[in-house]
Amino acid sequence: MHAKVIVRRDDAVLRIVMNRPDKKNALDRDMYERMTAALTEADADPGLRAILIEGAGGVFTAGNDLSDLRFPPADLKDFPALRFVRALAACQTPLVAAVEGDAVGVGATMLFHCDLVYAAPSARFKMPFVDLGLVPEAASSLLVPERLGLAKAAQFLLLCESFDADEALRLNIVNAIAPPGDLGRIALAAAGRLAEKPSQALAATRRLLRSGQEAVAARLEEEGKLFAQALASPTVRARIAAFFARRD
Ligand code: COA
Repeated sequence: MHAKVIVRRDDAVLRIVMNRPDKKNALDRDMYERMTAALTEADADPGLRAILIEGAGGVFTAGNDLSDLRFPPADLKDFPALRFVRALAACQTPLVAAVEGDAVGVGATMLFHCDLVYAAPSARFKMPFVDLGLVPEAASSLLVPERLGLAKAAQFLLLCESFDADEALRLNIVNAIAPPGDLGRIALAAAGRLAEKPSQALAATRRLLRSGQEAVAARLEEEGKLFAQALASPTVRARIAAFFARRD
């Protein structure tokens, strides 16, 4: 069967490719579960020393599959999306992302957990939680203002404005913009360079760079509760229904 997430090894790099291009790589429950398992696999295998997250078909991801949010379970504690962002925040293996095209919702917020992010000129970022009647996730309500300041956080998380690769570079969300066609090669080379570093020094330095992980873990849970409450609201149902009903 056609895999919606392709996980493969490239020497010491584990490549995770979101592969559902007909749905803009929107992440359904199975995809979150496969990605969570891949992060855990990498941490458990000393032969895997970096992870590269990519999207197939010229898109990173349109974020959470909105159909899964239409009929959510009453308790989101073990919702695959929440388990994925917990695993991402706790991941010990260095993370690199290659972003082409749309990076929406968790497609944008997961980048704040990555060590290196490369973008194609086509990259377009958006965190439309409030527009949907939802609240931010993946600890973005903490990490976005911390990294970008309150003014930009309000622009992206309250106004839900989108931004392009140039702005992401200016804001230090991405490390570099790859020339057209070169994104995969450049991101894989960076992951390979990380994989060659002395692993203990790299792991210790990552931990030092990412101090405050307890606050991140606590924020994930707080956001999770608010997200679950919001999902039960008629506004969210109406916004999601409007997305599926739209006709250009
Ligand atoms: N969940 C489920 N399906 C999605 C999806 C999502 N998040 N994003 C896109 N799709 C589906 C569309 O329904 C469409 O399916 P169809 O061909 O069966 O009708 C297909 O993917 C292509 O999407 P489309 O909107 O036509 O592509 P586009 O290039 O015009 O726009 C996006 C791309 C990503 C800007 C737009 O799809 C979008 O805004 N998606 C929703 C993003 C979102 O709100 N994510 C959740 C945040 S919590």
